[in-house]
Amino acid sequence: MKLLVTGGCGFVGSNLTQRLLDDGHQVIVVDAQWFGNFLADHENLTVIREDVRNAEAIPLEGVEAILHLANVANDPCSDLNPKLSWEVNVLATMQLVERAIACGVKQFIYASSGSVYGVKDEPQVTEDLSLVPITDYNKTKMISERVLLSYQDRITIQCIRPATVCGVSPRMRLDLSVNMLTVQALKNGRITVFGGEQTRPNITIMDMVEVYCHFLKLGASAPGIYNAGFENITIMDIARMVTEIVPAEIVVTASNDPRSYRQNSDKLLATGFVPKYGVADAIRMVTEAYRSGAIADDEGCYNIKAMKKNLEF
Ligand SMILES: NC(=O)c1ccc[n+]([C@@H]2O[C@H](COP(=O)([O-])OP(=O)(O)OC[C@H]3O[C@@H](n4cnc5c(N)ncnc54)[C@H](O)[C@@H]3O)[C@@H](O)[C@H]2O)c1
Repeated sequence: MKLLVTGGCGFVGSNLTQRLLDDGHQVIVVDAQWFGNFLADHENLTVIREDVRNAEAIPLEGVEAILHLANVANDPCSDLNPKLSWEVNVLATMQLVERAIACGVKQFIYASSGSVYGVKDEPQVTEDLSLVPITDYNKTKMISERVLLSYQDRITIQCIRPATVCGVSPRMRLDLSVNMLTVQALKNGRITVFGGEQTRPNITIMDMVEVYCHFLKLGASAPGIYNAGFENITIMDIARMVTEIVPAEIVVTASNDPRSYRQNSDKLLATGFVPKYGVADAIRMVTEAYRSGAIADDEGCYNIKAMKKNLEF
């Protein structure tokens, strides 16, 4: 298939793009390359350095499906410039889906976020629960979903709500909980846990990529919204898992972010998806990559630091 991946140079997008190429697809990546481009050249890959807000510059001729990942991708980065975040995450998404329909694209898969639910007391957070987004980031994801779903009579829409992703990518992120705690242990022999009792869902980057490929294959047979998160564990649980692999002291400090949220992904599992990896696998892989020198604790691995440095606000 001929596919467009926006945000294909990002943490998830780099692994997803490589996987799609391995599967024999022809891939166009559109990415502003805020954090660089670590994609290897490939005869079936076209990389375009472009802002998704510039919808007209995105080539859609012959594209069958879009995997839309290019967003301002966490709470603090969205707070840096909320106007930019709304334009990129919502307005550009609307422009892209409109052009996609006009160009005959059949399927649109959107990287939303499990954070759209906000703080929930329910032990099972399913897709039908109300959304109480807290930050601009959460709100842009919720509104983008709603905008996209308003087009679902004209194009297959799949909104995926991922948990926090963990694992290794050529475009590494160390501002994600499992990756951050693992590198703290490796670098300092000490892990600082803020609070620690907040429960959060997780998904490995390997399973994340697999989820997108799964929906690509399912096409029009599985439209709608899907959670994608599997291990609902506390930050302290993660810290302890890290210390089983990388011996380190755990230091607990007060937290100003008491949010707990869980995810139930039974709807995704009912489509036939089977996760193959867990948090412990991701910790092992990050450890191996760090010790071998494949990843380093650079500024560029923290979205907020890189955005402050590379973009003007
Ligand atoms: N990583 C996670 O834990 C996680 C969890 C839930 C949802 N998500 C969502 O998944 C998607 C991918 O996340 P990620 O971790 O790979 O993030 P990332 O920040 O590593 O990648 C995002 C990519 O999008 C690009 N981008 C951002 N704004 C752009 C614009 N205006 N025009 C063109 N390119 C632009 C960036 O250059 C970057 O390469 C994001 O939409 C994110 O919100 C991620």
